Amino acid sequence: MKLVKDLRRYHNPVFNRFEWNEPSFVYVVVYRMARKIREMPNCFFPIKVLLNIIVVPIYAFFSIFMGISIPRGAQIGAGLRIYHFGGIVINPKAIIGENFSIHQEVTIGVKNSYFDQVIIGDNCTIGAGAKVLGNIKIGNNVTIGANAVVMCDVPDNSIAVGVPCRIIEKKNKTYDPNRGPFN
Ligand SMILES: CC(C)(COP(=O)(O)OP(=O)(O)OC[C@H]1O[C@@H](n2cnc3c(N)ncnc32)[C@H](O)[C@@H]1OP(=O)(O)O)[C@@H](O)C(=O)NCCC(=O)NCCS
Repeated sequence: MKLVKDLRRYHNPVFNRFEWNEPSFVYVVVYRMARKIREMPNCFFPIKVLLNIIVVPIYAFFSIFMGISIPRGAQIGAGLRIYHFGGIVINPKAIIGENFSIHQEVTIGVKNSYFDQVIIGDNCTIGAGAKVLGNIKIGNNVTIGANAVVMCDVPDNSIAVGVPCRIIEKKNKTYDPNRGPFN
C-alpha cells in the first residue's frame, strides 16, 4: 500500500523515531485518500460522490493551511516524502515515480502551455525553492539543487543545479533514503 511506504519515509534514522513534528505527513494521508477515491471505478458513483463530499473539504483545508497544492490528478508513486511545508505546488498532470522527496517552496508545473507535463522518475529529490517547468522528463535517481530552475530533460543519475540549470553526473548511483534525501 502506497501510504504505508510514504509513512515509512517519515522515519528519522538519526533519532530513530517517526517525524511527528513534520505536519506534512497529515497532508500525505489526505492526498492518498483523495486519490484513492478518484481512482474508484465509476460504477461506485454515488459512493464516490459521498466520499468526495467528506474528503474534498478536508483536503482543501489542509492544502490552504499548509500551503501545499498537490491536486488529486497528480500521480505520485509510493514513498512520497514532503520535507517541511509551504509554497509547494505540483501540476495535476505531473507523473512522479517512487521515493519522491520534495522540499518547501518547490513548483512542478507548466512553462508556457497548459499542455506541458512534467514526468519524474524514481528516487528523485527536489531541493528547497527549485522550479521544474515545461514539457520535460526527469530521469531516475536525480537530485535537483536548491533554487534551481529546470526547464530541460535531466538524464538518470544526475544533479541539476543553477538558473537555468546545468547537469552534473552523480557520483553515487545507488539510492539509499537512509542517508538522507540528497545522497
Ligand atoms: C544539489 C546538491 C545536493 C549538490 O550537493 P553536492 O553533491 O555535495 O555537490 P557540490 O557541493 O559538490 O556541488 C557541485 C557543483 O554544483 C554547485 N552547486 C551545488 N548546489 C548548488 C545550488 N543549489 N545552486 C547552484 N549551484 C550549486 C557547486 O557550486 C558546485 O559547482 P562547481 O563544480 O562549479 O564548483 C546541494 O548543493 C543542494 O542544493 N542541496 C539542496 C539542499 C536543500 O534544499 N536543503 C533543504 C533543507 S530544508
